[in-house]
Amino acid sequence: MKHITAIVLAAGKGSRMHSDVPKQFLDLCGKPLLFYSLEAFERSRVEDIILVTGENEIEYCKKDIIQKYHFHKVKAVVPGGTERYWSVKNGLQAAGGADYVLIHDAARPCLTQKIIEDSILTVLETAACTVGVPVKDTIKLVDNDGFGTETLPRNYLWQIQTPQSFCYKDIVEAYEIMERVQDKDITDDTMIMERYLKKKIKVILGDYYNIKITTKEDLLVAENFLKKIKKVVDMNVI
Ligand code: CTP
Ligand code: MG
Repeated sequence: MKHITAIVLAAGKGSRMHSDVPKQFLDLCGKPLLFYSLEAFERSRVEDIILVTGENEIEYCKKDIIQKYHFHKVKAVVPGGTERYWSVKNGLQAAGGADYVLIHDAARPCLTQKIIEDSILTVLETAACTVGVPVKDTIKLVDNDGFGTETLPRNYLWQIQTPQSFCYKDIVEAYEIMERVQDKDITDDTMIMERYLKKKIKVILGDYYNIKITTKEDLLVAENFLKKIKKVVDMNVI
């Protein structure tokens, strides 16, 4: 059996949310936003979970989320870094012993069992995958003067989500190279794999519900999404 670990990232400041509390701890349908990602992995077949959060939030997470909601799979809570990729790096360090890792943003609370299971099946086969959804809008490149220079072919455009899943030793190696070359222009982990290991990333269908909470209005959308997903969960469909 392969050892599969989930790394849940919750060490951001949520600056675009403009709230006193970091967005991963904001109330969503009566529970902290972070609860939903942990709960989804707890119910899945991942072996264990590494939670990455702010140094000063570790105790809160342990007491008010992990213990309170009986998340037995969380094997470590580790501090994050100033940038997302440093947080991932700390998470990877704590995940030693894993064969595969699923790296997930706590800011995506509408994670479903189907997404987790599809990610696991695909990473076992391809060694690197992410979930995403085809874009619905027309996407243009716009120059510095505000003029559209090109309309990109929509058939080939996907919005990339998390979880992003990798063979553990590959992603660790990619991060080691990134650190050596001191690359700062990184927005997600698939980019690191593409850039440094020249690996192809399999992109599979996630879910339009799997949105990232970034600004206030996203909370309203997620609240409705969660109610819908929850209803489906209660009916044991996912
Ligand atoms: N994250 C992290 N460590 C960081 C930055 C981000 O663990 N140094 C996590 C966030 O907690 C979030 C995910 O990475 O779950 C995606 O990041 P993003 O949506 O950009 O969250 P923030 O960085 O917190 O928000 P903002 O960019 O608005 O400040
Ligand atoms: Mg950010």
